[in-house]
Amino acid sequence: MNDYQIDLKDRLRSASRTFRKKEGRHKLKSEDLIYCAFNTDRFTVGRDEAQRSASERLGRFGLTRANVEGRTALDLGCHNGAMLLELSNLGPASGLGIEYDADKVALAREIATYCGLSDLRFEEGDVDQLEARALGTFDIVFALAIEAHVLNSEHLYELLGQVTGELLCFEGNAGCNVEQVELKLMASGFKKVTYLGLCSDDIQPTNNKRPIIVAEK
Ligand SMILES: C[S@@+](CC[C@H](N)C(=O)[O-])C[C@H]1O[C@@H](n2cnc3c(N)ncnc32)[C@H](O)[C@@H]1O
Repeated sequence: MNDYQIDLKDRLRSASRTFRKKEGRHKLKSEDLIYCAFNTDRFTVGRDEAQRSASERLGRFGLTRANVEGRTALDLGCHNGAMLLELSNLGPASGLGIEYDADKVALAREIATYCGLSDLRFEEGDVDQLEARALGTFDIVFALAIEAHVLNSEHLYELLGQVTGELLCFEGNAGCNVEQVELKLMASGFKKVTYLGLCSDDIQPTNNKRPIIVAEK
């Protein structure tokens, strides 16, 4: 690892310490961890350095080169961009990440540039204020551990129905009511909604309480 990569990881650790939640800021208990591990040809955050794992999460959603290559992707509440950075290994046409925290967006952009991933874009934005008309549609949409943090969950489900072209990869926060999410997603236009069980990638096993759902158009 070179000096730049060491510094990048320090800044990722710093940006991972808190994130925006409904009321105020959520503070990570494990202050020395980066939020999510990922791998690209030029820069890797290892599994042992991070709380979550992007490759394990893609695996749980059943995403492979066969169903990602050439597809467009959107990640709402994308944090440092780990999911799209990892997804880039599967050949998507493009990716857009939207995140409330400016420092996380700046880091995601910097990493994408450093890794030569010019088809990934990261923008500051508030999911509560996003309009489907301005976003357009994306083949694959991620809405991971964000449902409890938005102010208007009705708006979130409506938006997901409007911006998803093919597949929604959804993760609830701990305490999420799976049946209610399934009903909301069906009501917002998804034809098939499948609960895949709880997440399994958190480095702290007691945190693996987040339900994973895929919804198809
Ligand atoms: C629990 S983290 C999940 C991060 C990422 N989705 C993942 O699962 O790897 C929630 C993220 O959503 C962001 N966030 C919270 N409320 C938001 C909002 N209204 N609009 C955009 N991002 C938001 C937080 O700053 C944080 O990065």
